[in-house]
Amino acid sequence: MSELLLAKLVKKEQLKPDIFKFSVKAPSIVKNSKPGNFIEIRVTDQTEPFLRRPISIYNLDRENGILEFIFQVKGKGTQILAKREVGKQVDIIGPIGYGTFQYENYKNIAIIGGGIGVFPLYELAKCAKADNKSVTTYLGFRSKDFVVLEEEFKKVSDNLILTTDDGSYAKKGFAINYLEKDIKAEKIDAIFACGPLPMLKAVQKLAIEKDIPCQISLEEKMACGLGVCLGCAVKTAKSSKENPEYWHVCKAGPVFNAKDVEI
Ligand SMILES: Cc1cc2nc3c(=O)[nH]c(=O)nc-3n(C[C@H](O)[C@H](O)[C@H](O)COP(=O)(O)OP(=O)(O)OC[C@H]3O[C@@H](n4cnc5c(N)ncnc54)[C@H](O)[C@@H]3O)c2cc1C
Ligand code: FES
Repeated sequence: MSELLLAKLVKKEQLKPDIFKFSVKAPSIVKNSKPGNFIEIRVTDQTEPFLRRPISIYNLDRENGILEFIFQVKGKGTQILAKREVGKQVDIIGPIGYGTFQYENYKNIAIIGGGIGVFPLYELAKCAKADNKSVTTYLGFRSKDFVVLEEEFKKVSDNLILTTDDGSYAKKGFAINYLEKDIKAEKIDAIFACGPLPMLKAVQKLAIEKDIPCQISLEEKMACGLGVCLGCAVKTAKSSKENPEYWHVCKAGPVFNAKDVEI
């Protein structure tokens, strides 16, 4: 059940010149959130920008009722949000999303993310590890300058494989290349992914070919975020010319079984 809250910003960190981590006091939202859920933020009480911005939940500190999210400054909305000072309020609705990561039935799990898509994977890895799952995390970034959260993911993974496309840091190449090698070499019961569309498409193809259960989180463009505007429609795998079928990512997702959606 989502709710609207004016949550106090209790901590603000700048992870990169354009990437900020916010910690807000939101006990009731924290209590109802699951890995994969997101929140919708209204960045101003002025009329412009009017629409809320969807941002993933990065970490849930259940003991202290603190919700953390990390965002990259992209356009007007995130620029305004980045200027918020500690002690001020953030207008959020959450948790949002019916489709969350379901890891409970698997023992050996692979988590793969790229770029700013790694943020929602942290809470998943943390919960799965606490639940005694074997967690191997594959994180891909464009180059050394884009690498974030290495130490944080190390703590919540049994094994962290970090890659940069150009080899300027850690292993060279795409994270999926290392996942593919590990699938051949050992047992992976399920894959969980979030990241840029080309990466998600490649993960989806690999998982279907190898017949491994796979859940992907889609970060479609959104407008209303409430399932009423069709702004975030994704085709279902069953959809055809004669019988087109869509799901709203903001309502049915953002996490879907990879074999159920056409991306
Ligand atoms: C489920 C979900 C989770 C997300 N989680 C994160 C996250 O954890 N961290 C992060 O940095 N970014 C995340 N994004 C992307 C983030 O929502 C956009 O970068 C942000 O909305 C851009 O807003 P803006 O006003 O700065 O940019 P503008 O380009 O000015 O935004 C204009 C409009 O387009 C929408 N929009 C623009 N880009 C995106 C996008 N990529 N996805 C969805 N809507 C977009 C905005 O919501 C707004 O309605 C997520 C997106 C979705 C759908
Ligand atoms: S963003 Fe409006 S229906 Fe999903």
